Amino acid sequence: MAEKMKIYTYPDSVLRAKAKPVENIDEDIQTLIDSMAETMYAAPGIGLAANQVGEAKQIIVYDLTPQEEGRNLSVLINPEIISAEGEIVYEEACLSVIDFCAEVTRNARIKVRGVDRNGDPVDIEAEDLLAICLQHEIDHLSGALFIDHISSLKRSFYKKKLKKMLKKSKPRTGKL
Ligand code: NI
Repeated sequence: MAEKMKIYTYPDSVLRAKAKPVENIDEDIQTLIDSMAETMYAAPGIGLAANQVGEAKQIIVYDLTPQEEGRNLSVLINPEIISAEGEIVYEEACLSVIDFCAEVTRNARIKVRGVDRNGDPVDIEAEDLLAICLQHEIDHLSGALFIDHISSLKRSFYKKKLKKMLKKSKPRTGKL
């Protein structure tokens, strides 16, 4: 049964782990994929990498379908960017980076190779939001976050903001 999983958030070190290639797409992997999808839709988000739920495996799920058109889940295992060109700037956010978004420059067009959940090879030519989404998720698999692509000034602004937020959310009672 697919169950919603915990999404780890920055600065948790699990987000920095390099995901390992999946060698055998077995039942456990299928369950993980379903749970990742469940977690992504519940968030809600349009993409999720396995690192974000604490599994250092090269798996991403995404669905860029507008909500009113229903669901159309895509799963990509062991994805690799084989070519990239052009530039596109887009305001990105991430389920693992609470309360923050920032403009990130990415490649405008990419080709990605991987396998789907049946183990069949997939070649994707992506542009626009799909290109951005795939680069963002594939970044996760190498332990990178979109905030690694912004200026250090903006990043330190976010770190300060996060510190304040975490302080506020601390319970006021003692040990229980
Ligand atoms: Ni993300």
